[in-house]
Amino acid sequence: MKIAVGSDHGGVELKKEIKKYLVTEGHEVKDFGTNSTESCDYPDYALPVAEAVVAKEFDFGILICGTGIGIGIAANKVPGVRAALCSDTFSAHATREHNDANILTLGQRVVGPGLALDIVKTFLNTEFQGERHQNRIDKITEIEKKYYK
Ligand code: RB5
Repeated sequence: MKIAVGSDHGGVELKKEIKKYLVTEGHEVKDFGTNSTESCDYPDYALPVAEAVVAKEFDFGILICGTGIGIGIAANKVPGVRAALCSDTFSAHATREHNDANILTLGQRVVGPGLALDIVKTFLNTEFQGERHQNRIDKITEIEKKYYK
């Protein structure tokens, strides 16, 4: 798969671990930064990853900040993004099956690397179930259309 990754300074260490794992698994990875622990602003890294995922340049995106919250809020402003913050494998599984999430967000200050890799693996290996869930996603798209002119 082609995976876009990005983080702020609060997620840079976990991102390194995730990139290593993804490459080992044979995925193609593009890192949109940051690669520094110097303080920076998470929307600057959420935006290019979100846009590239919506443009279908990548199968999925993975965004990491301290909590996974800010970077996910920013990504979800881009129409077509369904970014899901997951701190457990059940949520990672459910958000793929039910929400067809296209971006996974993680908090480096919340989950350890072992759990984070299990979450990534679960997220990437779970298929969207469609059917009734598609209707709900279509309603999310309608909300986007109402507010993004
Ligand atoms: C940075 O200190 C921190 O606020 C950021 O990584 C993230 O947790 C925001 O949601």
